[in-house]
Amino acid sequence: LKRITTHSLQEMKAGGEMIAMLTAYDYSTALILDDAGIDVLLVGDSASNVMAGHETTLPITLDQMIYHASSVVRAAKRALVVVDMPFGSYQGDSLEALHSAIRIMKESGGHAVKLEGGTEVRESVERIISAGIPVMGHLGLTPQSIYKFGTYTVRAKEEAEANKLLEDARSLQEAGCFAIVLEKIPAKLAAKVTAMLDIPVIGIGAGPEVDGQVLVVNDMLGITNGFKPRFLRQYLNLFETIGGAVGEYIKDVKGKDFPGEREQY
Ligand code: KIV
Ligand code: NA
Repeated sequence: LKRITTHSLQEMKAGGEMIAMLTAYDYSTALILDDAGIDVLLVGDSASNVMAGHETTLPITLDQMIYHASSVVRAAKRALVVVDMPFGSYQGDSLEALHSAIRIMKESGGHAVKLEGGTEVRESVERIISAGIPVMGHLGLTPQSIYKFGTYTVRAKEEAEANKLLEDARSLQEAGCFAIVLEKIPAKLAAKVTAMLDIPVIGIGAGPEVDGQVLVVNDMLGITNGFKPRFLRQYLNLFETIGGAVGEYIKDVKGKDFPGEREQY
């Protein structure tokens, strides 16, 4: 079983093989995804929403991200594990960013970090990469800036924002990023970025003309209830499946049907 590396992703782009990425936050789920053959496991700061129940990604801490990431790392035998740098751990200055990235690498054993933003974070990106830590960029609808955007609607529909995104994407590649995520932007713009860059572009709500796709695992498995943006393909409805199983269990307990003869000592 050969470990996926940042170089494998580059080869996949060159060979036209799409990169399959999902988020993961815990050991048990990561084991399943890794065994199924996922290329990249993203320990997303979306853990703030789907694991902790916060409304935004802003509250999750560096310590909490490290806890989630170390759990995922212990499960990943093949997948590349990328860890989100949480809000507040890299925006202050590049030295703070470097220290946060080093903590993630040392304490979680993750293989790379991801952070949001373009030219604003360029110095931090360069400094982290100089320390030997691979960095994945993230442009478009960057959820850590939700209070700046004021809405979760599609980004970069206007020319000015699209041009800024193109400039940011180029800047991140120049800074040495091994890949970038494009979130919720017009498919045409994502295709343009993908054609322009040599590094892999992974989309979420960015159309098909990219080098790979990522989804939040709880959303694609239907664990999250009632979250159905257009870009989401829901493969299961685990909210109903698990709810049904739990309903059975409750019925068995209340009806004194569980435990049975062979389920006791
Ligand atoms: O935190 C996350 O889940 C992400 C993906 C949506 C790219 O950053
Ligand atoms: Na994220």
